[in-house]
This record gives sequence, C-alpha cells and structure tokens, in this order.
Amino acid sequence: MEPLLEAALKARDNAHAPFSKFHVGAALEDVDGRIWTGCNVENASYGLTLCAERVAVFKAISEGVRKFRRIAVAADTDKLTPPCGACRQILWEFLGNADVILVNLQGKTATFKMRDLLPEPFDASFI
Ligand code: THU
Repeated sequence: MEPLLEAALKARDNAHAPFSKFHVGAALEDVDGRIWTGCNVENASYGLTLCAERVAVFKAISEGVRKFRRIAVAADTDKLTPPCGACRQILWEFLGNADVILVNLQGKTATFKMRDLLPEPFDASFI
C-alpha cells in the first residue's frame, strides 16, 4: 500500500472519538513529499469536534507549509468515508483541485477530485 494511505490508517489509531466511536485518520502530502497526519478530535461539547482532515491541514499550515499535492482519508466503512462539507471548504482553500483518496481497513480505495466534491466553491477569488 502507498505510504500516504498507510499514514492515514495509522493516524486513525490516534483518533479521540469517545462520543461517536467513529475513528478517522488523514494524511496530507505537501509539495516536498512530506506527510502531515491528523485524526478526529472530539469534545464533550460535541460542536467543538475537529475532523481528521482539518487537523492534518492545520498542523501543516501552523508549521509554515502552504503547498500540498493530495490528501488521504481513512475510516472503517465499506462505503468509503468522504470529507464533510466543512472539511471540503478548508481543503479547497489549501489544496485546490487536488486528489482526495479514500481508504478503508480492507485497503479498498477510491480517488476523487476536489472539484467534484465541492462544485462551485466559494473562495478568495470572490473577495
Ligand atoms: N469525521 C472526520 O474526522 N472526517 C470525516 O471525513 C468524516 C467525519 C469525524 C467527525 C466526528 O468525530 C466523527 O467522524 C463522526 O462524525
């Protein structure tokens, strides 16, 4: 399996999801080939929960990285788990029309273009 997908699956092991019990991992590849991982982090107040994708993006951004190639998202579902709407907006901001690779614990994968996941996006071009 590709290292990026393995990294997403491994990051999933760190998920803090005591409320939903739905564990998600993400692995983001920057233009230098470095991998930034994230897991979902839930909170007793529910609404403060951060998804794995946004944790990965914010980790990289906070370390000064701005250019990315693609992201992998890992979850334990037969129908592969796609990013939520909020994450799609954040991914569009920093990855543009990148590939989003979904993977499950059996190694099943599917790849989507961000433009297909978020048609007609609102972004900085409107401001
Ligand atoms: N979640 C993610 O981390 N990424 C996704 O792509 C889908 C949903 C998390 C948020 C919450 O902790 C749990 O999964 C259930 O929604």
